[in-house]
Amino acid sequence: MPSTAQCRICGDQVNEFYDFGRQPLSDAFPAPDADHSSEFFFRLAVGLCQGCTMVQLMEEVPRDRMFHEEYPYVSSGSAFMREHFEGLAKRLLATEMTGDDPFVVELGCNDGVMLKAMAEAGVRHLGVEPSGGVADLAAAKGIRVRKSFFEESTAREIEAEDGRADVIYAANTLCHIPYMGSILAGVRALLKPTGVFVFEDPYLGDIVERTSFDQIYDEHFFFFTARSVREMAARNGLELVDVERLPVHGGEVRYTLAPAGERTPTAAVAQLLRHEEEQSLAEPAALEAFGRNVTRIRDDLTALLRRLKDEGKTVVGYGATAKSATVTNLCGITPDLVSFVCDTTPAKQGRVTPGTHIPVRTPEDFAADYPDYALLFAWNHAEEIMAKEQAFKDAGGQWILYVPDVRIVQ
Ligand code: SAM
Ligand code: TMP
Repeated sequence: MPSTAQCRICGDQVNEFYDFGRQPLSDAFPAPDADHSSEFFFRLAVGLCQGCTMVQLMEEVPRDRMFHEEYPYVSSGSAFMREHFEGLAKRLLATEMTGDDPFVVELGCNDGVMLKAMAEAGVRHLGVEPSGGVADLAAAKGIRVRKSFFEESTAREIEAEDGRADVIYAANTLCHIPYMGSILAGVRALLKPTGVFVFEDPYLGDIVERTSFDQIYDEHFFFFTARSVREMAARNGLELVDVERLPVHGGEVRYTLAPAGERTPTAAVAQLLRHEEEQSLAEPAALEAFGRNVTRIRDDLTALLRRLKDEGKTVVGYGATAKSATVTNLCGITPDLVSFVCDTTPAKQGRVTPGTHIPVRTPEDFAADYPDYALLFAWNHAEEIMAKEQAFKDAGGQWILYVPDVRIVQ
């Protein structure tokens, strides 16, 4: 029986449209000899608000369980993403930060992948990052970081100490934060009237179009559209004034909000809103159809891995992504189907995957004895990974992909 919940944006009713079942914390990689009976699980289900159309999780995981000293995700791990953030920093410097002594604040700056360029340009900046380990990596690069969760009280303290910001920026962070009222009140308190709040996150339109269901996991609480962001902004004295589709992480949108009435929305906003209307993105039927596609991929992937096992083939996972927790736990992929997962992140290596306990090893282990197949969990970095793993292909290895459907790539 699908559940209902209260919308974290407008308070109206959220109606569940897909249940991924019992899932672990996607970034909690236990030690192999840990007491697995203490592993944290919750029900991962997703729903649509019948009022403001925001798609969101039905259950919330307490933030300290996810973002803490040991949070393992390090943003600079991808060369492509480093370039992406450097490009954005340069653009903000040239367009929004041309006045006297400009000031930029980033929420969820992680290891400083974006703020590094701001620090190098000598502009006033501040990263707000609750996960201590990655915040230390940023500080070691000479970036000014405040180790805390951003919320209204934090914003008021920053405003008292540093004054108001020209730009507040957040990448792959805003969608992680259920307490949105407090965040946007903080943005209002900290932003100059002429300033902008720019954020980029996975786009529901791409998730539905590509059935990239593994974007749905504990940390991703909201799945934005131009329509739901416009609603969310309007309820908090802000206005959606620009949108830009991005090719990163399987399809994202960069939203620009400004204090209401301060800027004229670009034509891109109206265009994306029209596109969403055509895609019926706010209609329960479209999201239920998405759910049926998820079930089909689950069944196809499970059948393929079982067949390969029966044929005596070897399969290794590539990229112990947070996203892969949803896939492995939904499909029941355990070490009998995928012998290990390789990943470049030191904090994940030597550990096991959340819930399914597949060993995580290094890319060197992958290269030492190539498997017959590599299941590409980090499909959003496919181009970069396939280019650097050409030797795997040359040795006869084949990639398994499951977004937008299950297929083998020679
Ligand atoms: N911005 C980086 C990027 O795009 O690669 C990091 C994204 S990472 C997926 C999300 C980050 O948001 C984590 O480093 C986490 O600690 C941080 N975070 C979570 N809640 C936050 C909050 N309330 N305020 C600031 N950062 C937060
Ligand atoms: P993401 O999809 O959230 O960016 O996570 C990517 C994961 O994949 C992260 O754990 C690092 C890993 N990874 C590799 O192991 N090799 C690579 O070449 C890239 C780009 C990522």
